[in-house]
Amino acid sequence: MCARADLLFKDFRGEEGDLIPLLQRAQATFGFVGPEAVGAIARFLRITENQIYGVASFYAQFRFTAPARHGIKVCLGTACHVKGGAILLDSLERDLGIAPGGKTPDDQFELDRVACLGCCALAPVLTVDEDVYSSMTVNKLKETLKRYD
Ligand code: FES
Repeated sequence: MCARADLLFKDFRGEEGDLIPLLQRAQATFGFVGPEAVGAIARFLRITENQIYGVASFYAQFRFTAPARHGIKVCLGTACHVKGGAILLDSLERDLGIAPGGKTPDDQFELDRVACLGCCALAPVLTVDEDVYSSMTVNKLKETLKRYD
């Protein structure tokens, strides 16, 4: 974090209202708000780390653990659910050994479900990182994930 720490506080004056923008910048910079970032922000704003966690945990946008290398999002919106989205999610849960919101022990994948990815005509849909996979099947799933080893 040290090399980018200066950037974290650039344009901020250490005022009370800086907390949320600083947390947002930390997450954008590091991918999560880790303990080092929380400590640095606490020192910069002259508040306690507990105060920061108290505020930040109120917002779903902040994550406090490092993300996996690849994020899988399975759509369970109406169109995708009807076309087998839940079957895809079950298969992924079984194969990866994790539930939605979880991360594999090797940090390779994390799994989540979403309400709609906005491309319902292509259902069922899932994404891996920024890649969108449409008309997905359980059979295509394993080959697809091999691309992310
Ligand atoms: S319901 Fe899945 S993309 Fe809309």
